[in-house]
Amino acid sequence: MTKILMVCLGNICRSPLAEGILKSKLSNAFQVDSAGTANYHTGSPPDSRSVAVARKYGLDISKLRGRQFKVSDFDTFDHIYVMDDSNFNNVMALARHDKDKAKVKFILNEVYPNQNYDVPDPYYGGDEGFENVYKMLDEACNVIASTLT
Ligand code: 4NP
Repeated sequence: MTKILMVCLGNICRSPLAEGILKSKLSNAFQVDSAGTANYHTGSPPDSRSVAVARKYGLDISKLRGRQFKVSDFDTFDHIYVMDDSNFNNVMALARHDKDKAKVKFILNEVYPNQNYDVPDPYYGGDEGFENVYKMLDEACNVIASTLT
């Protein structure tokens, strides 16, 4: 089974959306999960604005709960997609060897190869930030799903 992990900072805004979007594009033969590099929101549901934008596009992410990224995720997952530069540096700092490092990729590099663009953190902004993030993640997940299937 191919396993994909989506990673952001808090695991309440971007990565739960990425998880819900990618799951909706893949069969049960794939496992998709998400985590945050920080532990601020362990056990918390996604931000209400992420839940709302997902619902607008027909996805229910309300049952997801936050958890922190852990070193054993390198063993569990085949692909680890980060949202931004800071997530990338935080995850790479936990990598034990080159095999771990090779799993870590900027999610927007699926659409814009080698550019290392950030999915902007929408936490301190308005609803339009969440709409923008949804569209970016949907585009990236279309590429990921078509590459994996
Ligand atoms: P996320 O957004 O990394 O997309 O889940 C954030 C959520 C919470 C915080 C920062 C970013 N926070 O500082 O609590």
